[in-house]
Amino acid sequence: MFKVVVLVSGGGTNLQAIIDKVESGYIPDTKIAAVISSSRKAFALERAAKHGIPGEAVVKKDFDTKEAFDKALLETLDKYAPDLVVLAGYLVIVPEIVIRKYANKIINIHPSLIPSFCGDGFYGLRVHEAVLARGCKVTGATVHFVDEGTDTGPIIKQKAVEVLPGDTPEILQRRVMEQAEWIILPEAVKELAERK
Ligand code: GRF
Repeated sequence: MFKVVVLVSGGGTNLQAIIDKVESGYIPDTKIAAVISSSRKAFALERAAKHGIPGEAVVKKDFDTKEAFDKALLETLDKYAPDLVVLAGYLVIVPEIVIRKYANKIINIHPSLIPSFCGDGFYGLRVHEAVLARGCKVTGATVHFVDEGTDTGPIIKQKAVEVLPGDTPEILQRRVMEQAEWIILPEAVKELAERK
């Protein structure tokens, strides 16, 4: 059984896409062993609970030092012994000690066509605001391996999405999620699970 742990911070729509594809069998022989959130309030935790998936929050501000948080996150991950760690809307920089321990086993979904509109400060709606401000006609999403940098690891999958006249950042974000993120992230998990 291919064990996946999903790290989240917010609504969990990408988590939901993975849950649905595991339950439908599209992603074979795979179990979401746990959902770990950077916030206790993340709706993603409710999605996990609804599907009987263990969820817990490892919250930065609960710890006196960065090192203590980093250690707690690593220990929490280790509990589930994941074959793959998926960052799905996870807004915390992944600690070095986690990246080293799970080298080449961490993937992230970013809501643009890397190397455009990525790196420090490019997350959530800010990505789509920048795409619209630049006047781009095409955007999309990227799944990539996570390395020490921000959105810099090897690209696994990308999918392009049209920018339409009258798009607001919210409308564009939704289209990128529906037409790209929720498709290529489960596809990437499936391919990695099949390759084990
Ligand atoms: C969204 O901005 C999405 O584009 C990005 O993370 C944010 C939250 O996604 N990947 P989710 O609904 O929590 O999966």
